[in-house]
Amino acid sequence: MDQASNLRNIVKKNQVIPSNRARVITVTSGKGGVGKSNISVNLAIQLRKMGKKVIIFDADFGLANVEVIFGIVPKYNLFDIIYNNMSINEVLQNGPLGIEFLSGGSGVKELLKLDHAQISFLVQKLNELDKYADVIIIDTGAGISDVVLSFISASSEVILVTTPEPTSVTDAYAVLKAIKNNKIDDSGRNINVLINRVTSDAEGMDIFEKLDKVTRKFLGLEIRNIGFLPEDKSLPKAVIEQKPVSILYPKSQITRAFEKLSKNVMDSTLYKQPQNSGFSNIFSNVLRRKR
Ligand SMILES: Nc1ncnc2c1ncn2[C@@H]1O[C@H](COP(=O)(O)OP(=O)(O)OP(=O)(O)O)[C@@H](O)[C@H]1O
Ligand SMILES: [Mg+2]
Repeated sequence: MDQASNLRNIVKKNQVIPSNRARVITVTSGKGGVGKSNISVNLAIQLRKMGKKVIIFDADFGLANVEVIFGIVPKYNLFDIIYNNMSINEVLQNGPLGIEFLSGGSGVKELLKLDHAQISFLVQKLNELDKYADVIIIDTGAGISDVVLSFISASSEVILVTTPEPTSVTDAYAVLKAIKNNKIDDSGRNINVLINRVTSDAEGMDIFEKLDKVTRKFLGLEIRNIGFLPEDKSLPKAVIEQKPVSILYPKSQITRAFEKLSKNVMDSTLYKQPQNSGFSNIFSNVLRRKR
């Protein structure tokens, strides 16, 4: 038995089917700095206001990520589960409004250093996350790295973020192409496109339609328009204050757009229930791909 199939067996054996499967939304982009972390945080806040239990998984460290936007330094991360024998509850950090977040340590690549017994233990523990949340939002780093592709491949729902800038749209298309080339475009996955920093909805619609047209024509992929977010100075102001804009400026134009986005995310007519939802599934799949 090779190492990979051995790992698959460990993961499979440890995968308890949880009664409550959380929806898992991976927020990603081709180009960096397009608003993923702010979107993850503010979407979480709006879903929380709709009564959902939300956990954010910060899957990459960089500038202005979840902890920085919350203004909270996480005490523990994923790896404390293994190295310090902590429970999921202990490593989950409290954010505003009862949102919890899980820091991924210095990145998912760290997972590669774990041995089989440690992975098995981690997967077992992570199964519990589905019990604690209705929605788990994964904030990824930008670009088409293997780790990000693993998250997308394992994820049932993706929010692909772009701005109207041609470079950003081209890079979003590159992500879609990678999804196609890596054969992770099987049906059931919800690929949503969110256009951030628009000057008008008409501008956003124009960009979406162009992207949709080329994606259909050249990749044969179906993408969904999940909404537009306006360019709004309240957002960088809130980032400087290290408070989510939805909390600091609840009446701002962008906060209203986040309210609309959360409704679109929960709108059952826009959402296809995938077969394999749940964080435990996602995590197991990421591990399977990485080994
Ligand atoms: N709608 C907006 N209006 C005005 N400024 C915005 C908007 N969206 C994002 N920005 C600006 O872009 C910056 C980067 O946002 P954010 O950190 O959320 O991007 P990111 O995609 O997570 O970046 P990275 O790829 O580095 O993780 C914000 O701090 C803000 O200054
Ligand atoms: Mg970020």
